[in-house]
Amino acid sequence: MRHFPRRTLAQQIARALQGNQIFSDAHNGLFLAAPRRTGKSTFLQEDLEPELERLGMVIVYVDLWADQRRDPGDLIADAIGRELAKHLGPIAKAAKAAGLQGVNVASALQIDTSRIGRMDGITLTDAVRVLHETAKAPVVLIIDEAQHALTSEAGETVMAALKSARDQLNAPGKVNLMLVMSGSDRDKLLRLVNSNSAPFYGSQIQKMPELDRAFIDFVSDLVERQRPDLRPVDRAMLDEAFAGFGRRPQFFMTALGEALSPLSSQEGRFEAAVIAAAEQRQRDDEAQMESEFLALKPLERAVLWRLLAQGDRFRPYDAEALRFYSEKTGVRVTTAKAQTALESLRQHNPSMVWKSARSAYAVEDAAMHRWYEKRMAAGAWPPTDSTE
Ligand SMILES: Nc1ncnc2c1ncn2[C@@H]1O[C@H](COP(=O)(O)OP(=O)(O)OP(=O)(O)O)[C@@H](O)[C@H]1O
Ligand SMILES: [Mg+2]
Repeated sequence: MRHFPRRTLAQQIARALQGNQIFSDAHNGLFLAAPRRTGKSTFLQEDLEPELERLGMVIVYVDLWADQRRDPGDLIADAIGRELAKHLGPIAKAAKAAGLQGVNVASALQIDTSRIGRMDGITLTDAVRVLHETAKAPVVLIIDEAQHALTSEAGETVMAALKSARDQLNAPGKVNLMLVMSGSDRDKLLRLVNSNSAPFYGSQIQKMPELDRAFIDFVSDLVERQRPDLRPVDRAMLDEAFAGFGRRPQFFMTALGEALSPLSSQEGRFEAAVIAAAEQRQRDDEAQMESEFLALKPLERAVLWRLLAQGDRFRPYDAEALRFYSEKTGVRVTTAKAQTALESLRQHNPSMVWKSARSAYAVEDAAMHRWYEKRMAAGAWPPTDSTE
């Protein structure tokens, strides 16, 4: 599938980051949230990065989900180190050629870019500063799935170091370090900004705009070009189907491909088939969540239920929570038992509960909240196993 370019959005965000938008706080850090599979990483890498590069900035992109076995703190430090190494290389060459012995050059060249943020290496704050000084350009750090940084102490430390680098490098009217953080879950991202002890206290989380009607027009144009016999494509119907897929391009494109396939057995217009596929997908997603829920032990269900009902007010072991678990399971639940249940929800495959380094909890998949709300509204909560 061809990439649908989102240049206008990239330009708006670039302007905001540079502090050129009145009353925008983006120069203090831009926090973007959008549900899973809606095109966040693609936008950051294919649209925002090239736009910022065009403006002459240095970009460091790191996806904290890229390698889940590695500590998020190390991933960030390594990404900065790699970019710094790229800029130090040419300086080393130039310095040799010109016989340069400037103090700054010499000290920059002694930096071990693989030990940033370690005990024996330079601090992350200094590394960012040197990167800015050697590149002679503003630095943009894009951290994808940033909420993951909060699951380890090293990750938290790196976030605090970035905040301090931002405060040291930036001044009103002069933005040298820009931070863009994205995540698929607003509640988790909120923990970076919403308390006094949070590294980016005071910043707001914004909703990253999802792909809109312009994407449907782009796709419809492609269809009309390749299949003139299908003209005119019913764009409103395709938009409805796309919404049904939760504005997730991958699922939508797969369904579209199937509906347009010469092997497809369906009758009638292909747009209707795509809408039917979207409806089927929703049913499948909900059935999946239901069967995962029903496969849990009774106490695990009660703990997950409590978490869904309480959101960020969730306290796993307070008296009220323990009473709730006991009431739902019909047996007395101790703190130790609740702990075991919560831990097994975290270890579950796929993991169902997310925990920060400060023991704050959230459901791993934010779609579960929507499922819970929907069933609550329909009076169909909790799901029950008909074989029980
Ligand atoms: N602008 C676009 N044009 C065409 N396809 C796109 C576009 N944006 C995203 N997609 C497709 O949608 C899918 C999901 O995109 P992407 O990985 O960027 O989403 P994400 O929100 O980062 O997902 P995750 O939550 O898994 O990290 C990919 O298959 C990608 O190719
Ligand atoms: Mg992504």
